Amino acid sequence: MTRVITYGTFDLFHEGHYRLLQRAKGLGDYLIVGVTTEAYDKARGKLNVVDSLVTRIENVKKTGFADEIVIEETQGQKVNDIKKFHIDVFAIGSDWTGAFDYLKDYCRVAYLERTRNISSTMLREKNSPIQRIGIIGSGRIAARFLPEARLVSGVSAQGVYNPHTESARRFADQWDINVYEETEAFYEAVDAVYVASPHETHYGYIRDALAHGKHVLCEKPMTLKQRQAEELFGLAREKGRILFEGIKTAYCPGFHKLLGIACSGTIGSIRNVEACFTKLERAGSRELTDTVYGGSFTELGSYVLLPVLKLFGKAYEELRFDTIRDEKGLDIFTKASFRYPSGIATATCGLGVKSEGRLLVAGTKGYIVAEAPWWKTSYFEVHYEDAGRVEKYSETFLGDGLRYEISDFLSMINGSSSSEFKLTRGESAAVAGILERFLEEEGRPAQERQ
Ligand code: CTP
Repeated sequence: MTRVITYGTFDLFHEGHYRLLQRAKGLGDYLIVGVTTEAYDKARGKLNVVDSLVTRIENVKKTGFADEIVIEETQGQKVNDIKKFHIDVFAIGSDWTGAFDYLKDYCRVAYLERTRNISSTMLREKNSPIQRIGIIGSGRIAARFLPEARLVSGVSAQGVYNPHTESARRFADQWDINVYEETEAFYEAVDAVYVASPHETHYGYIRDALAHGKHVLCEKPMTLKQRQAEELFGLAREKGRILFEGIKTAYCPGFHKLLGIACSGTIGSIRNVEACFTKLERAGSRELTDTVYGGSFTELGSYVLLPVLKLFGKAYEELRFDTIRDEKGLDIFTKASFRYPSGIATATCGLGVKSEGRLLVAGTKGYIVAEAPWWKTSYFEVHYEDAGRVEKYSETFLGDGLRYEISDFLSMINGSSSSEFKLTRGESAAVAGILERFLEEEGRPAQERQ
């Protein structure tokens, strides 16, 4: 009996998939089909898969060609599967020609000609037209966004707007995108907006973009006042548009896994959360010179508040800030201490003091620790009373990690709300509320400015 194996995502099942499976089956007597998990696809940079794993498996099953279906979860699994299932032929489409030659040590490798003019990517684009994203702001963060957006299928970077037209022009030249000098022309040319302007201008731009019927992805902190965040989410709902705060950690697969394990009971009931993120800024940077909106907490607070709010919720009983300020009165190190009915938490950040930058989640049975840069979570450990028992988890974190939030933003635009729980509107508003209280206590309450 000749045993054949093939693998794929099989998203939005199409004729190309059908013909591939038919021919793969024709190569032998028994066909095993490996279907990729969502996590594996994300890890290898394949974002925006539409169908669930169950649907994709069902569709492969319906063809009647698969004698057995397995799940492909990790890189390196193919070699093991080939040995485990005593495979004679590995078959895959010709778009992969050469890529699997290393399997020739284990079995015959057949590259089957790909069916022309059809692919899941094409169908995704047809079902959901490409979202043209316009960028407001042309600084460091905007520059980080562009290469990441180019990796997400279904979005295209259309152009940039910045009232400082010189900076916008330079940026547009560098990235080969359009530049808009007037907001009206800018809004006319785009479907969605990425707001990467200074913090205090976010509110005005978001309101404007929503009023023009655009979806909005806004850099953190979305606003510096809770009421403003709530108002904007209300406006988005009214307009039937997506408003999405880009705290990138919330969307990265590793952080997601960490939260899942923390909430699974593995470490018992959570009693203490400590999140710390410090980044020494060069003197003269905006963060250290803007004495109204600069400082460590407005810059990094969103990151360290995220695990606290995700794990303990928004209903804290007490909140206290301890701050170290520079000679201009700007906070260069801030510790927010929370008391909750069932535990305590600290969210610490610094621009002028260097600390270990760790995330620690302590429970009644054990603790989870993720070292810096945990805000780009790729590795963490679970420890118990028995010091010899340590569980290690790793997860891919690709590039700058913005691709994950862009991909979730796009899925929500395209009608899937399955990412909404990663950072809820209530959590975003709560972050704004904590930043607002901090700025008030510092004697520099946030104003609106555009
Ligand atoms: N395939 C094919 N002909 C097509 C599309 C896919 O023969 N027109 C084959 C691929 O080469 C692979 C299998 O079908 O062996 C599963 O491919 P998959 O990556 O799931 O499908 P694509 O349509 O290529 O998906 P995407 O556009 O997301 O890359």
